[in-house]
Amino acid sequence: MIVSGSTSQSLAAALADELDEPLAPVEFERFPDGEQLASIGEVSPDRAVIVASTPTSDAHVELLQLQDAAREAGAREVVTVIPYMGYARQDDAFNPGEPVSARAMARAISAGSDRTLVVNPHEDAVCDFFDPQATAVDAAARLADPLPDALTDPLFLSPDEGALAIATTVRDAYGTGETDFFEKTRHSGSEVEVSPSDAAVDGRDVVVTDDIIATGSTMSEAVGILDERGAARVFVTCVHPLLARNAPTKLARAGVEAVYGTDTLERASSAVSVAPVIAGEL
Ligand code: R5P
Repeated sequence: MIVSGSTSQSLAAALADELDEPLAPVEFERFPDGEQLASIGEVSPDRAVIVASTPTSDAHVELLQLQDAAREAGAREVVTVIPYMGYARQDDAFNPGEPVSARAMARAISAGSDRTLVVNPHEDAVCDFFDPQATAVDAAARLADPLPDALTDPLFLSPDEGALAIATTVRDAYGTGETDFFEKTRHSGSEVEVSPSDAAVDGRDVVVTDDIIATGSTMSEAVGILDERGAARVFVTCVHPLLARNAPTKLARAGVEAVYGTDTLERASSAVSVAPVIAGEL
């Protein structure tokens, strides 16, 4: 049985379809004091697959409740699928006194899970924080699907070195093209500086790929440079289209016409589903 968090309902339905498994009749309520209550209805699942992205603290609480409700309903096995794992970027105590938030979240989620899958975590090492260790699911190849068939001399570019593997996966799935990356320096949560590489982009179609677009700062900087250097068409892709705060405006001001993301987060930009990739792991 597939059990959907409120943040992942379309993806959970697509996964239920892929696996030909029923969807639990979940309900989400909030008490007058602000506490949440996520419930799964009168079901008796043998295996419960909880599908819940955690972009907010509320979504984290909801996930823990759904795991517990599944166990309470007698599930023999609880599998947790985290399409987008929030707090994953705080995977170290970067300054004295800070928590390793990803580890704290992983420990809490592990307590209710027999097996956990995380789609494109910020770093695969985040999976080591889970007990048992989580499996990283790479859905980046899906991002090649919405691209036009005949790109001109395509360059698959990541805005920082860390995302080069994702850009390479998209290139491989597309079938042809070069890869490269920009160097990035982050000055604050929403201020980044991107230094171009030597790659020639004049007249070429460029596919910029990242694991996540959060504030849109990284991507708008990268797109601005590509425009200045005469790229033909620029396609913006990411696995997790978080698009927080004023990201859509920032991207539009940089000249981005469309973002192609996946349904790990349910946004207007969720052009492709990761359901087939997750189904393959289940
Ligand atoms: C950073 O390492 C990530 O790969 C993304 O580049 C980053 O998180 C994007 O954030 P923003 O959209 O806020 O620049």
